[in-house]
Amino acid sequence: PAPRATNITWHVQSVDKAGRAALKHQKPCILWFTGLSGAGKSTVANALEGALHSRGYHTYLLDGDNVRHGLNKNLGFSAEDREENIRRIGEVAKLFVDAGIIVLTAFISPYRRDREMVRGIVEEGEFIEVFVSTPLEVCEARDPKGLYKKARAGQIRGFTGIDDPYEPPENPEITLPTDRKSVEESVAQILGELEARGYLK
Ligand code: PPS
Repeated sequence: PAPRATNITWHVQSVDKAGRAALKHQKPCILWFTGLSGAGKSTVANALEGALHSRGYHTYLLDGDNVRHGLNKNLGFSAEDREENIRRIGEVAKLFVDAGIIVLTAFISPYRRDREMVRGIVEEGEFIEVFVSTPLEVCEARDPKGLYKKARAGQIRGFTGIDDPYEPPENPEITLPTDRKSVEESVAQILGELEARGYLK
């Protein structure tokens, strides 16, 4: 790895986060979706972004497969690589928050420690953990990409929920039981929470 940079200073800028956010009539935050593969993270995050966008809010969705094709294409699925995946996404999300944007992220993010690390790099109230709590049996029955079948057959090793861990959040701000709620109901639930907590103005 390259040596760490020295002799760098943090520049204070004349336009700040509050100023950028005020233009947008919103309180920037990260809606951090976490859950098993096939739980519905991307589906709900996509629908929520559409709902927010159509109401005039400025959003940005960072999604698993897309980020792994670009920014994080050198990372695999070992615990170490998943940690680095989440660390980079957290830093990018933090920059978007600084830009005044409501960020949605949809990654399995299986390790509690990694999610708490992201919570720790942003300000109080800027990290909203959304647990997409769909049980493994339901995700496996859905199997939209056929990955559970491959994992059960031993063709994929270290697949989350099969032979790799998933640590559910202990105190998520929002829990979505998507096996009992439609996508529209989940979106309405999150919009209600965001309004009640003062993120949407
Ligand atoms: S993580 O754990 O947060 O770093 O994972 P993420 O970046 O969200 O990527 C998960 C998607 O990668 C596919 N995939 C795997 N998932 C879990 N375990 C293993 N071993 C694996 N290999 C490939 C899978 O399609 C996940 O997509 P989603 O959208 O979650 O189904």
